[in-house]
Amino acid sequence: MIKKYVMIFIVVLAVSAGAGWVFFGCAFEEEISHDPAPCEEEDYIVIGLSQIGSESDWRNANTESFKSVFTAGNGYYLLYEDAQQKQENQLKAVRDFILQEVDYIILDPIVETGWDTVLMEAADAGIPVILVDRQILLENDELYTCWVGSNFREEGRAAGRWLEDYLKLQSRENKEIRIVTLQGTPESSAQIGRTSGFADVLSEHDNWNMLDKRNGEFTQAKGQEVMRDFLKLYEDIDVVVSENDNMTFGAIEAIEAAGKTCGPGGDMIILSFDAVRAAIQFMQAGKINAVFECNPLLGPKVAEIIERLEAGEQVEKIQYIEETYFDTSMDLEKILKERVY
Ligand code: AHR
Repeated sequence: MIKKYVMIFIVVLAVSAGAGWVFFGCAFEEEISHDPAPCEEEDYIVIGLSQIGSESDWRNANTESFKSVFTAGNGYYLLYEDAQQKQENQLKAVRDFILQEVDYIILDPIVETGWDTVLMEAADAGIPVILVDRQILLENDELYTCWVGSNFREEGRAAGRWLEDYLKLQSRENKEIRIVTLQGTPESSAQIGRTSGFADVLSEHDNWNMLDKRNGEFTQAKGQEVMRDFLKLYEDIDVVVSENDNMTFGAIEAIEAAGKTCGPGGDMIILSFDAVRAAIQFMQAGKINAVFECNPLLGPKVAEIIERLEAGEQVEKIQYIEETYFDTSMDLEKILKERVY
């Protein structure tokens, strides 16, 4: 069946090419495109990608990762929708993809709940849904094909364990440690996992005092604002746990504006998540102690899953991506040279 998007594509070409054209083939397409798409409509695998937004460096790297693999040259036709941080926009995007009869829907769900109905609609239309990055809570797990992303709870635990070791090295393991947390989007799996993972380790230390946890929306501007509030409210803060790098960058601005220092040897220990290039550079500058990686490069993995599904293979339902952490004891120059985001 000829899909709607192809019809639209052909109509747009027809109108722009003028009245003399009645048929459009490869020759014409190659004239106007640097990355020629396959000629036959059935050669395309049509992907509808519902992205959350562009709130962070991580998010931009993630979007780029999908765009770089789902190209016409690789045999894909990508319909990309940026939801601008609104679940209602994602629900609309998924419904539009269903109407356009795409072959696969890739959904990065902003929060974990509220997806049952729309996923039922995709299932009724026979369209496989691949979840990426964040997870969702569903009555019926059959409503999606598989999920690929990070183990956010493990990331939070890794940060807690790192802090444990660091405090021991400083002979502070029995001192009171006053902590604040800049949290990501409430009810997102990245926020839930990192908060609960760190809390797992915190619960083992009576001397760790979580003074406050507030929503910094995963953005630099909000991270700065929340950190400014923390600094007004709490005189002594020993540790800042910031649930993504962009909030960390904002927090550092607020800390320095308040005349305080952060990073190794500073007033506050800074723990961050994502490990984008700029965060590694902040570590080099001695302003962040450690960053816990969240790998945004999910495009190739999802393309591999789609290839397997196209070949009629089964795929694993839950697929974690490999991740690590970095701190100032490491060769950061070398890490930066190898870092692609
Ligand atoms: O879901 C992944 C998180 O979302 C990343 O940590 C953050 O930077 C992004 O906005």
